[in-house]
Order: sequence, then C-alpha cells, then structure tokens
Amino acid sequence: MAGTGNFSMNIICIGAGYVGGPTMAMIAAKCPQYKVTVVDINADRIAAWNSDKLPIYEPGLDEVVKSALGRNLFFSTKIAEAIDEAKVIFVSVNTPTKTFGEGAGKAADLQYWEKTARDIIKASNSDKIIVEKSTLPVRTAHAMERILNANDKGIHFEVLSNPEFLAEGTAVEDLKKPDRVLIGSQLTEKGLAARQVLVDIYANWVPKENILTSNVWSAELSKLVANAFLAQRISSINSISQLCECTEANVSEVAKAIGMDSRIGPRFLNASVGFGGSCFKKDILNLVYICEGYGLHDVARYWESVVAMNEFQKKRFVRNMIRVMFNTIAGKRIALFGFAFKADTGDTRESPAIDVTMQLAAEHANVVITDPQALDNAAKDLQGCGDCTKYVTFENNPYEAAKGAHALAIMTEWNEYKTLDYERIYKSMEKPAFIFDGRNILDHQRLYEIGFNVYPLGKECWKHF
Ligand SMILES: NC(=O)c1ccc[n+]([C@@H]2O[C@H](COP(=O)([O-])OP(=O)(O)OC[C@H]3O[C@@H](n4cnc5c(N)ncnc54)[C@H](O)[C@@H]3O)[C@@H](O)[C@H]2O)c1
Repeated sequence: MAGTGNFSMNIICIGAGYVGGPTMAMIAAKCPQYKVTVVDINADRIAAWNSDKLPIYEPGLDEVVKSALGRNLFFSTKIAEAIDEAKVIFVSVNTPTKTFGEGAGKAADLQYWEKTARDIIKASNSDKIIVEKSTLPVRTAHAMERILNANDKGIHFEVLSNPEFLAEGTAVEDLKKPDRVLIGSQLTEKGLAARQVLVDIYANWVPKENILTSNVWSAELSKLVANAFLAQRISSINSISQLCECTEANVSEVAKAIGMDSRIGPRFLNASVGFGGSCFKKDILNLVYICEGYGLHDVARYWESVVAMNEFQKKRFVRNMIRVMFNTIAGKRIALFGFAFKADTGDTRESPAIDVTMQLAAEHANVVITDPQALDNAAKDLQGCGDCTKYVTFENNPYEAAKGAHALAIMTEWNEYKTLDYERIYKSMEKPAFIFDGRNILDHQRLYEIGFNVYPLGKECWKHF
C-alpha cells in the first residue's frame, strides 16, 4: 500500500460539494492524525475550497476549514493520485433525479457514482474501503461491490454505507454533534473489519452510543426514509394550513398544540410555502421508484402524495397573491425576500422561490429578488426561463427591492427579515401595500398597524378593506 508519511491513515473523499467539503473538514479538524484529501472534477470548486471564499456558505465552516487546511486537510483535482494513496475512500458525488430514459423524473441518476467506481478501479493498487456518503437507492452497494470487485488486479473493495444526515444551514453543528452516525456493512468478516475502521474514525469525537451499525441495506434505506418522513411532516402541516384559513383556526396554534404531544414532537411543523433543497423531493421520488420496482404501487402513491402536496402549496401561494391583488398582477412590482431554499445557506436547489418566481413572471409581474447569500445561484436557476429574462431583476438591498413594489413575499426565513424597518419599507411602496409571509416569521399585527395588508399562511389575514 502507498505510504502515509507522518499520518496514521490516508482518507479521501470524491466530491467536494455541500456534503463532501464540510464532512471531510470536520474529520480533518477532529483527527489531526489522518491525512484527509477531498478531490473533485470541478477545478473552480477546488480552487474556492483552497481560497478565502469557500464555494458554499455555511455558518462556522470557515473556522473548521481554516483549522485544518494545509495541516492534514487538502483539496485537489488529482483524483487518481489521491485514490492510489487512500485506505478509505468516501464518495459524495451528486445523485440527482434522472432526467432521461427509464425512470426519468423519479429514479436516481447513478452515472456519477458509477464513473467514480470505474475511476477507483483504474487508480487502485491496494485493497480499499469504499464509503457511500451520497444518498443512493437501497442495494446500490451491492451493484458497486460487483463492479469494483470485477477488477483483474486481485484487489478487494469493501463497500460501506454511511449516509449523511447533516442539514444545510446547520452542517457544522450537525457534524460536530450528530444525533447519530449510521454505518452499514456486510456481516462478513471483511465487512465487519471495514465497519470497525469507520467506527474508529468517528469515535475520535462522536460518543460510542451515537454510532449505530446495521446491515448495508438498512443504512441505505434509512437515509431515504428519514428524508421522506421529514418532508411528510412539512406536507402534513401545509395540508392543514389551507383548512385553517377556511375555518379561522390558526396553523401555528394547531402546530403548537399537536407538537407538545411528546409522541409527535415540535419540529418540522412550521407551515410554509413549501419545502425545497436538493434532497427531499429527489429522495422521495427515488423511494417511489424503488417501491414501484417491487410492485408496491400503493406504497409508491402514498409517498408520492408528499411531493404532490408540496407542489400544490407553491401553486396556491401564488394563486392567493393574484386573488388578493384584485385578480391581476401584470405590470405590478413584487419583491421576493429570500431565494435560498432555507435560511443560512446560499443553496437554491429546488427552492420554492424558483416556482413562485416563474409563476409570477408568467403572469407578467415585475419580480425583484433579494437574498443575502443566494443571488448568484438564483440568477443561474432562472436562466432559460423566457418570462424571467423579461420580468425578473435582482437586488442586494431589501429596501431597494421594496421601493415602488405593490407587494412583498417572504420566501426564506432569514433572521434579518424579521428586524427590517418596515415603516420605512411601507412608505416606499405602492398603496395598498401587501405582504405575503410564506414562512410565517413576521409580526403580522404590527405590520397591519403600520398600514400593510398582511397575508400569512394558515391563519387569518390582516386587511384594511
Ligand atoms: N446537500 C445536502 O444537504 C445533503 C445532505 C445529505 C446527503 N446528501 C447527498 O450527498 C450527495 C452529494 O450531495 P451534495 O449536495 O454535496 O452535491 P454537490 O452537487 O454539492 O456535490 C457533488 C460534487 O461531486 C463532484 N463530482 C461529480 N462527479 C464526480 C467524479 N466523477 N469525480 C469527482 N467529483 C465528482 C461534483 O463536481 C460536485 O462538486 C448526494 O447524493 C446527496 O443526496 C446531500
């Protein structure tokens, strides 16, 4: 095996994205005895990891990276070299929903994963432990092991599943103190030995009782199921939000009342314009596809409805805006506050703001988007949307965005939107001025007293006429 220099082990990660970057930075920060190298085909991304401006925004990440960069944490594009030197290879390449061919729109696109497996075979000259960090369909490890072990070099690859449960926006805290680390392995002698190597890495900072081990299939499936359950809670409370509006119940009061039931718990019960992020929709659709593959059509429909509810919530948000604003928004300036799929990230993948913007632009509203971290990504997301080119602009400063607007819509729950000077904003807007709070984060009564007509989700509106 290749030498490890002064380090006790060489660990690498293929894929320097939202998962690979922070996860490996945490391992390097907590384990100075290991050499940790993160590689990617995207040279710009690698250059950014090596610079002062990291490629992703994540609170606390700068410090973690800085503490280890150049000491035992390295970012590189030399993929083959890194593979050859490594004993443990994490793989966190993207696994988006397939857009073509069989399973398009539901199945996971595994081309990046398979390409990585082939890169690993080509560059390896010794036995390796391969760790699935990417979220993958259940039983992918089996396929990977077959591809990898079909090599003619006599090298053995042991594939472990170690799904990542971090949430963007709290990635550093999640990695520092994970609720649990899940490691799935084959129950063979080699599988159990590989599992122990990974347990020992995490045991450097994660308490033993939080390191769960299981068979590979349980680990792979648990990740999909965790995301499906989280998204299901959001869709469930969102489904109740409209009923609340019809019945004068208040969705926040309902959520509080049910959340204090210890069997239910309080988290993921905020009604909103909908969930986003790169994972929830794709992972549920992946689960749906797998269920269909096993002929479990009723199970597939059950989970599919979680996604359908989310699409409905985005549509109804815009329909409500149009209805309230006298059934026409053409030519009206509408400021969207926030574009990231949630606060404390610049990630806009599957953000509800994308659909909302497209629907508003299709109605010929003049949409102005503001966001503290996500404007570059927003511009990329809307490329190719013809109406958007004509009707959408971007503005860093929320006060400027609001100037001359008929309406504001809160799309992301950024803390800073709670404390803006809404009197100043009101004065600069067209009248009657509307606020649509897609995250229920503002003080609605106070806004009403300033003069706004306020439309929260799942509760009574505050209007002056
Ligand atoms: N983002 C999250 O919050 C999150 C959380 C848990 C799990 N996951 C899962 O982790 C995986 C990665 O997600 P992400 O958000 O980090 O994706 P990402 O798109 O941010 O990063 C993936 C990286 O892999 C690189 N890559 C692709 N093919 C490659 C190859 N052949 N060789 C080297 N590099 C390659 C890409 O250039 C990219 O930089 C996905 O399966 C996702 O479902 C994501």
